[in-house]
Amino acid sequence: MKLKTFITLAVGIVFLQSCTSKKTESNQTTDSLTVNKIKKTVFGTLPDGRVADQYTLKNANGMEIKISNYGGVITHWTAPDKDGKFEDIVLGFDSLSGYLTPPPYFGAIIGRYGNRIAKGKFTLDGKNYQLAKNNGENHLHGGLVGYDKVLWNAEPMEGEESALKLTYLSKDGEEGYPGNLNITVVYTLLRDNSLKMDYSATTDKATVINLTNHSYFNLSGFKKDILDEEVTLNADRYLPVDKGLIPTGELRLVTGTVFDFTKPTLIEKGINEVKDEQIKLGGGYDHAWILNKKGNELSLAATVLEKTSGRKMEVLTTEPAIQFYTGNFLDGKLTGKGDVKYVKRFALCLESEHYPDSPNQSAFPTVVLKPNEKYSTTTIYKLSVEK
Ligand code: BGC
Repeated sequence: MKLKTFITLAVGIVFLQSCTSKKTESNQTTDSLTVNKIKKTVFGTLPDGRVADQYTLKNANGMEIKISNYGGVITHWTAPDKDGKFEDIVLGFDSLSGYLTPPPYFGAIIGRYGNRIAKGKFTLDGKNYQLAKNNGENHLHGGLVGYDKVLWNAEPMEGEESALKLTYLSKDGEEGYPGNLNITVVYTLLRDNSLKMDYSATTDKATVINLTNHSYFNLSGFKKDILDEEVTLNADRYLPVDKGLIPTGELRLVTGTVFDFTKPTLIEKGINEVKDEQIKLGGGYDHAWILNKKGNELSLAATVLEKTSGRKMEVLTTEPAIQFYTGNFLDGKLTGKGDVKYVKRFALCLESEHYPDSPNQSAFPTVVLKPNEKYSTTTIYKLSVEK
């Protein structure tokens, strides 16, 4: 009898202990969930009455990224400077209305085909396709209503790291492209202050695809333009363009030109070198650099350093190229968050991508996606500080 009582007591104590430790564990989980909890608010109403939301992703370091399901737009991104001061580093607007009179793709997901397709035409499996010519005589960033202007389905994914899953069905024939394309983009804010973007898609008919994100970064926190930022691109070659900014097909070495960013280089060093025909054609930098890499491994493509704030951004990607665009077409007519005027070269874009106009240039890596294949790419923007 005594032994039975003893055993009952011992089992009880062990049980109680295990409950306590579970409670501690679950409290920890709860804490991290609180940090990673995704806040959803209404961002605005579209002209057709649909509501667009805004989701706030936060990590334990205090970094905050706001994303709307309208265009998958990254509307805000606060990052610390070398003194720990958080400031917004991406161009955009405080409410949905700013995004409705087409701004230059601020923060958005770009597709079905990022960058240009010459004359909006291509041939696939013997069939000719004609897309909108929405950039002079060429097609740009998916056409009149690209993925930057559609409402995505959003699914917040809370956990150790907060993520937002966006999905969109781009119907066969939408903007002239063939095939029903099922797209998923997952934005994950990592604990090391990176934003990871995983893009995937499948189609029911052969199509062309080139998805990217079009965030405009100003690492100074909007205090000045980007001219004295230092850029490094892991690329020995770039694609020269014609007057419509279509690649000529040449893969030109950067050596000895103002396109050489193989070592950290100030943007202002070469951006106004109008004696360079390519700078003249682009109105500055607006070209694809071909990344030095073996295959489609995730590798470092670009680094940007803003010395006053100490903010540094690294871009890693599985893509073969990166479009370095220095906001040459910003003209001060747009006023964004905090009443800041977005003047020429107030921000830069680093758009991971396949080469522009690939559907018409057979020597470029293919951008064709066939049924039973899976499109899958990853790009990471990683923020840190250098003191
Ligand atoms: C293009 C620029 C274009 C800009 C639009 C960039 O990706 O390369 O030529 O003007 O997007 O915002």
